[in-house]
Amino acid sequence: MSAKPRVIITRKIPAACETEAALLFDAVLNKDDVPLTTDQLRDALKTCDGLLPTVTDKITAEVLATEPRRTKIIANFGVGFNNIDIQAAKARGLTVTNTPDVLTDDTADIAMILLLMVARRAGEGERHVRSKSWTGWRPTHMLGTKVTGKTLGLVGFGRIAKAVAKRARHGFGMRIIFHDPFPPKPEDIKAVDAEQKQTLEEVLREADFVSLHCPAMPETHHLINAQRLSQMKKNAFLINSARGDVIDEPALVKALQAGTIAGAGLDVFEKEPVVPPELLTMENVVIFPHLGSATTETRVAMGMRAIENLKLFFAGQPVRDRVV
Ligand code: DGY
Repeated sequence: MSAKPRVIITRKIPAACETEAALLFDAVLNKDDVPLTTDQLRDALKTCDGLLPTVTDKITAEVLATEPRRTKIIANFGVGFNNIDIQAAKARGLTVTNTPDVLTDDTADIAMILLLMVARRAGEGERHVRSKSWTGWRPTHMLGTKVTGKTLGLVGFGRIAKAVAKRARHGFGMRIIFHDPFPPKPEDIKAVDAEQKQTLEEVLREADFVSLHCPAMPETHHLINAQRLSQMKKNAFLINSARGDVIDEPALVKALQAGTIAGAGLDVFEKEPVVPPELLTMENVVIFPHLGSATTETRVAMGMRAIENLKLFFAGQPVRDRVV
């Protein structure tokens, strides 16, 4: 029998991470990459010492109630951990970790890509050329919205928001405003010449681009609803690289149909991989399949970070990224 801790990895992760996990643990891999069912997740908790799930695994209170449970640690592959019922995990004395820092730059890049694409009609332009509809350059063809010098409103001012602000301020000369209920460090505000607003509404009213950077939690569920969308400028764009359920999607569809806002750039959705069908045909909406952290370098770093947390835990040392 193996003396190594048994770790179940719920999805296929980069090969280098699977190799490392197999060296350190009695690792159960998911070569076919088929998501585990609820019953399989419950079974995993009965049979492994550590679980390495990811954002697509719903580790609910019901799953966590599995008895007898062998699992002591859940090392999530992802910075967001809204896939795990944290209160239930805490109540049951489980350790939960995530993978912060390593995906900050890539996710900030995706937010900027969405912003630029939706402002400059890049998706629409590409479709135009690929469908052979392009008849040639002309002064009034496919005019978009200038980005340089515009106001970027950040909802939240955490790691990823600050990385977006850096790109927007120093790369595109944008004015940065933000709202965050948790006071940031003055030096972080100064680094991007940002202006802190006391309310979310002030950000919505003033921004040309509103970019969401808050975690998914009960307080932020459908934060951007019909009323808040109506506070945005008519020519403003909404960018979401955070979590889908921060936006009330039916309200967003209505706002886009009514022209309450100019467009949206979305990397995340409430019921992934389901995207509200109305959005699929809107030219002023840029849609990505949750690409925020999707580079080889970052996905390897995320896997290694989750493995490091497991390794520390099983060595009886403090984990690096404890959530609870
Ligand atoms: C995360 O880590 O939370 C991301 O959404 C995955 O890209």
